[in-house]
Amino acid sequence: MSKSAHPASRTIERLRQLAEIGRVDGLQGTTRPGLDLREQRACELVAKWMREVGLDVVWDAYGNLFGSLPGSQSDAAEVWSGSHLDTVPDGGSFDGAVGVLCSLEAVVASGRRPATQRVVVFRDEEGWRFGRGFFGSRAVCGRLADGELETRDAGGVSVGEALAALAIEPVAAPVGLPASYVEVHVEQGPELERQGLALAEVSAIAGMAGFAIEFRGLSGHAGTVPMVGRSDALTAAAEFVLAMRDAALRIPGAVATVGDLRIADPAANVIPGRVALSLDLRASGAEQLSSLTDAVPAIARAAAAVAGCTAGATPTWRHAPMAMSGRVRAAIRDQAQALGHSIAAVPSGAGHDAGIMASAGVESGMLLVRSRNGGASHSPDELTDEADIAAAIEVLTMTLATLATC
Ligand code: GLV
Ligand code: MN
Ligand code: MN
Repeated sequence: MSKSAHPASRTIERLRQLAEIGRVDGLQGTTRPGLDLREQRACELVAKWMREVGLDVVWDAYGNLFGSLPGSQSDAAEVWSGSHLDTVPDGGSFDGAVGVLCSLEAVVASGRRPATQRVVVFRDEEGWRFGRGFFGSRAVCGRLADGELETRDAGGVSVGEALAALAIEPVAAPVGLPASYVEVHVEQGPELERQGLALAEVSAIAGMAGFAIEFRGLSGHAGTVPMVGRSDALTAAAEFVLAMRDAALRIPGAVATVGDLRIADPAANVIPGRVALSLDLRASGAEQLSSLTDAVPAIARAAAAVAGCTAGATPTWRHAPMAMSGRVRAAIRDQAQALGHSIAAVPSGAGHDAGIMASAGVESGMLLVRSRNGGASHSPDELTDEADIAAAIEVLTMTLATLATC
């Protein structure tokens, strides 16, 4: 596509190209696990597009990619904008990638300002491969957990080994934090479609916490061990999933999800002796999140007891609810209104790198773009209209121009 194409149509074409990286035969969506070579290829394609428009490209030691437009005042604090390029398994082509590509268009259109502007691609935002998430933004903010580089994925590859396999060079010295960060993202929910609006700015990002749960029973013969007296770890897990659903239902706005469940050495004719599962808990308020997380060990023990098993519940990650910056929110709102776009204000139930940046003291804000198909996300049905992307690029351009000027 020509360089003179409209920024939104160029963005749609680039989304299509990125979606081909990580295409799996027989599936409709895209799979680009964090810190995997497919995510790396997507980053390299974006790095090429960054170079084509004259941005200075650097990578940090954690695989984060930066495309910079230097400012005219060397002492002016930086302004960053970006998102991520990894996806969930068989994911859609808009989650993360839209934010990266809108930032690329907007930084170039904003042009040289007093402050340096950087397009940033944060690595492994989704977190399903290594069990955490927001890896790149946490690394930039100095928030990696002790021993995190030794964490292994289901195939036995550690974070450190995955990083080394990316063979990124040259690696820049650590990049200091900016004054402000703005992330465009698809809404991933139905609210904007319901309201008939293209855009929203985020008031706050929900708090969230993860646990690794394990149930241990006794494996045995499916045909000879009587039903009464079995220690079936999958039965305990089933009790647990339903009890967590009920616990979340009792707390307004809270959600609990078991998205990964593994039977050790599974076989159709063997009673499951060990089951490991993930637990993802979210709530808009810190108190609601704590009441849910505090209940987990007892719920796991009770579920285990029903099935004659034992349980382990290990907290793996936690992020407090995070308000977005009043100054960045106002900049987004003012620019949207000046450009004639109505804009809603909504909380985000999804986690984002903007929440990590905010927790490190960076003034952060988010511009959400309407998702179609009822807000489908983390699925191949993700869809956002070109016209809405055009609006997001316009608003982001003027927001960055404002933030990088004052
Ligand atoms: C990120 O996509 C999340 O899990 O909210
Ligand atoms: Mn995302
Ligand atoms: Mn996602």
